[in-house]
Amino acid sequence: MCGIVGYIGRRDVAPLLLEGLQRLEYRGYDSAGLVITGPKAAGLKMVKAKGRVRDLEARVPKRFAGTTGIAHTRWATHGAPSDENAHPHLDPENRVAVVHNGIIDNAAELRAKLGADGVVFASETDTEVLTHLIARSEADTLEEKVRQTLKLIEGTYGIAVMHADFADRIVVARNGSPVVLGIGEKEMFVASDVAALVTHTRQVVTLDDGEMATLKADDFRTYTTEGSRTTATPTTVEWEAESYDMGGHDTYMHKEICEQPDAVDRVLRGRIDDRFSTVHLGGLNLDAREARSIRRVKILGCGTSYHAGLIGAGLIESLARIPADAEPASEFRYRNPVVDPDTLYVAVSQSGETYDVLAAVQELKRKGARVLGVVNVVGSAIAREADGGTYVHAGPEVCVVSTKCFTNTVVAFALLALHLGRIRDLSVSDGKRIIEGLRRLPAQISEILTMEDEIKKLAKEYADAKSMMFIGRVRGYPVALEASLKLKEISYIHAEAYPASELKHGPLALIEPALPTVAIVPDDDLLEKNRAALEEIKARSGRILAVAHQEQEKADHTIVVPKNEDELDAILMGIPLQLLAYHTALELGRDIDKPRNLAKSVTVE
Ligand code: M6R
Repeated sequence: MCGIVGYIGRRDVAPLLLEGLQRLEYRGYDSAGLVITGPKAAGLKMVKAKGRVRDLEARVPKRFAGTTGIAHTRWATHGAPSDENAHPHLDPENRVAVVHNGIIDNAAELRAKLGADGVVFASETDTEVLTHLIARSEADTLEEKVRQTLKLIEGTYGIAVMHADFADRIVVARNGSPVVLGIGEKEMFVASDVAALVTHTRQVVTLDDGEMATLKADDFRTYTTEGSRTTATPTTVEWEAESYDMGGHDTYMHKEICEQPDAVDRVLRGRIDDRFSTVHLGGLNLDAREARSIRRVKILGCGTSYHAGLIGAGLIESLARIPADAEPASEFRYRNPVVDPDTLYVAVSQSGETYDVLAAVQELKRKGARVLGVVNVVGSAIAREADGGTYVHAGPEVCVVSTKCFTNTVVAFALLALHLGRIRDLSVSDGKRIIEGLRRLPAQISEILTMEDEIKKLAKEYADAKSMMFIGRVRGYPVALEASLKLKEISYIHAEAYPASELKHGPLALIEPALPTVAIVPDDDLLEKNRAALEEIKARSGRILAVAHQEQEKADHTIVVPKNEDELDAILMGIPLQLLAYHTALELGRDIDKPRNLAKSVTVE
């Protein structure tokens, strides 16, 4: 969703801002803008454009010198995508510029008050109220003007502010929406996402909620919205600038699917303890006694992360024998859940920013629950808010459609389940068996990736379907759910996932030759039950594509994947279906990395 980039230093700022915005394009947006100033610039100079960053770039005048600036990519919430609604927003005198991520809940009320005072609004956005309030503040410093304004605001924000009368600084503030400072040599950067910073510096400071910062070319300071100084020690970003490049692939999605053997290798590295047939997860902050006292595990996430959580719950139940389930965080937080002190809550998120997950974590913590995070982005809001947890180490995922993070998250859950299991009742030999299975995964994923040409042909065959059904049973059901989400997200083909056991209870009515079914058919104790479902579909002339460990007689096509341990098969069975979704979308000419209407990080409700 929305993105912020800012720079103060000695370099020509407009190209830097445009490059930063390009690095944030993956988050999803519909308009962009920037404002600059500098020793040779009189006042603030702004350019905005509906559309892509390249449309903004086309509008930047040839002579547009400046050394300080802030820029933004907007994903419309209040007001349609348009030049006027794009950020930055300026006051009528062109002295104050604001870019903002998040939502101001009391914007309507503030707009009405300002309107009654004669303020004329240039946009329909909630953000513009900030600009007018800062411009109208009579405080002596920019910091104080911003602070006074934030006291009037209800809602979430990550903001960056420039003022023509205080041209030596950028003031930023955070409440619920990420703000990261990039520390350079006689230059400072700010962004809502490290992706926009890493080509220039890997030394970063992530602001906490309720924190503000003043950036000048050669120094920065952080303080609370109440004005007390805070200590900010820069940390080094683990991901290198090159990890954000396409690396010779045509799309990020393809690159990220192909990276999975390495990504899985990374999440396993340094964690396996062969001596005790267990794993070490350093950041859990959960000792053996506490782990033994857990009575239930509740996993919360959204979209793909929720699906990974469903597989995770199954792993925890089977390996650790602790009752576990997963629920969409977006539903959980609105049903006034009973928070149980003996339940371990686990928040799952690739970005670590998803608002619904973050809000669920905050609600749980307010009620005294213990919450772990299973997160990809180091230092992200959910990672910081949780009591402990584990990173999934998938590396940056740029494509809106999640692939490698899903796989790594499930592997991280397998590690957590093994860890809890070995503290409880999982035998040494079962621990060893799972470890051996985990070690086989990277090579087995590579083997599946060699089937790409075969899967591409299948995609051509099924791309004309108007709708597709995905079925799986027990461990296979979350695989079906995730595969169905992948297909609909990028190909826009309608897809539904059902437990294979539920076919007879309704969905069988849909089966006909025009509705293909993708069936997850592992070689496990449910093989015969799954085969019976294939029979039922075939008897109604349905077309079947099976993902299985051996050719399925009733299927029109079978993608045969390598067998692992029963508990770990789900990790492998989803991978060919990522490729199926990818090639189907290509066949239909879709924008693979930026599917319509979607954003990478959903930082609003
Ligand atoms: O960053 P998160 O994992 O919290 O994101 C959750 C969902 O928004 C995300 O998984 C979404 O469903 C993806 N587009 C899936 O491909």
